[in-house]
Amino acid sequence: MTDQCKCSCGCIKPNDPRFEELQRYIDSFGDDNKGIAMRVLQEAQHIFGYLPLEVLKYISEHIGVPVAELYGVATFYSQFSITPKGKHRVSVCLGTACYVRGAPKVLDKVCEELKVKIGETTADGLFTLDATRCLGCCGMAPVMMIDDDVYGKLEDVSVIPDILKKYE
Ligand code: FES
Repeated sequence: MTDQCKCSCGCIKPNDPRFEELQRYIDSFGDDNKGIAMRVLQEAQHIFGYLPLEVLKYISEHIGVPVAELYGVATFYSQFSITPKGKHRVSVCLGTACYVRGAPKVLDKVCEELKVKIGETTADGLFTLDATRCLGCCGMAPVMMIDDDVYGKLEDVSVIPDILKKYE
């Protein structure tokens, strides 16, 4: 049996076995702890999926960097998140080409379907919604991505519920 939390809140207990994996990564630097905070935060984000206070405290105690400093880094860079992310990431492009071709309507429809706002995660932990800049496929505007899958030409937003259902 594992001590890893199985509830949908994504909480992390102090005896979560993933801390051992993080410790092995920290240990791989030996005694040379200087300047590794960024790399340890990246690894922790990869291992846990987000950086809650429990994880920041653990890192602080083991590499000797104040929690406040780690929190500052974790909240400054978009690659980090201090709240749990959903299983699937939905990104609606709000770049210029998508915007003029109806991205606001796409975004409204996704918000309505998932009952979340930008940056939020659905109550079941399945989806996190983000708005993004140009995804590099303007010819397909308006565009949204779900994980690595691109969906374009979404002027008719009535197709969006069926697209989302594929990931449930
Ligand atoms: S503006 Fe949306 S893909 Fe370029």
